[in-house]
Amino acid sequence: VTAEKGGYEHFMLKEIHEQPKAYRDTMLGRIDNETKRVVLPELKLTEEQIKNIRNIQIVACGTAYNAGLIGRTVIESLARIPVENDVASEYRYRSPIVTPETLVIVVSQSGETADTLAALREAQANGAHVLAITNVVGSSIARDADDVLVTLAGPEIAVASTKAYSSQLVAFYLFGLYLAQVRGTQTDEQVAQVLAAMESLPEQVEEMLGKADAIKAYAEQIASHKHLFFIGRGQDYAVVQEGSLKLKEISYIHSEAYAAGELKHGTLALIEDGIPVIALVTQESVLEKTVSNIKEVKARGADVLAITYEEHAVELLKSVDQVFAIPKTLPILSAAISVVSLQLLAYYASLALGHDVDKPRNLAKSVTVE
Ligand code: G6P
Repeated sequence: VTAEKGGYEHFMLKEIHEQPKAYRDTMLGRIDNETKRVVLPELKLTEEQIKNIRNIQIVACGTAYNAGLIGRTVIESLARIPVENDVASEYRYRSPIVTPETLVIVVSQSGETADTLAALREAQANGAHVLAITNVVGSSIARDADDVLVTLAGPEIAVASTKAYSSQLVAFYLFGLYLAQVRGTQTDEQVAQVLAAMESLPEQVEEMLGKADAIKAYAEQIASHKHLFFIGRGQDYAVVQEGSLKLKEISYIHSEAYAAGELKHGTLALIEDGIPVIALVTQESVLEKTVSNIKEVKARGADVLAITYEEHAVELLKSVDQVFAIPKTLPILSAAISVVSLQLLAYYASLALGHDVDKPRNLAKSVTVE
């Protein structure tokens, strides 16, 4: 069993460490080094169809849903197409407004999630073209979808998804850029710039993994708490939703992820002395706004950890208790690095509490009932 885990104590830790490889594998052959453009020959979706897309709906469950939240920020910013996110179990029952110009993207690691499969069929019955982003080529979802974009994360064993999620992000970057190329919403230079930054991600994640001890120490510190909060704005808000889910799944510590600016509209009432608040601060356009929100929770006694880029560490330390610095990338790609710190946090919190990290109570890797 230890051999299967490649010397790691748990599958989850092994899979966290496999992310640089998963990134490389998912990008492999999809970036043309000469033209500096994305090539996705596997797609049946024609350029004509892409030009006609009026809206996109991203539908998934659990961690795949959270990846879709990042997908939305990526597609909207690169291709300027309106995107909605839906939980698959809700999608079918809300009579979604679908036209032949609607692209539905279903995201599923296993390709077998019953709710997601049902949503896919609902979308097709309404005339949508369905693109599946999945990690399993021969899965039910891959077979039924009109188009498939495969993530090459390799088999994921731990119930808590890590490398599948991050590979889904890479799939969204590639697809978002592809839409932008066809629709002309980004210049060649802009596309090349994003691709260059993407190619640095594996190394940057490796660099981050080298600093896991600091996250471990912090995880041990929060392990005795019953409740905690995550805050962030923009893409950071989407990432902390995944961080909060990860922590709940395997450490059983209750946490909530909040849009930093929304706290004051209710949840601030729950902030009391000593409560941990983890602020993800990578989106520089809203950095000052997030710092104001950090000050609001600090004033109520919260113990704040900020996860940010090195260059902001000194400034942020004036307002928070601790800072964890992560490697810098473009704002739209930040999730691919920052999420790793939150995965490690969940892992080490679960470990400190003595839980079965790879097989959390009540949860299954793949849920094939609706
Ligand atoms: C289960 C797993 C989650 C996963 C979700 C969707 O609930 O425990 O980790 O995110 O299913 O799975 P899928 O295979 O469709 O991505």
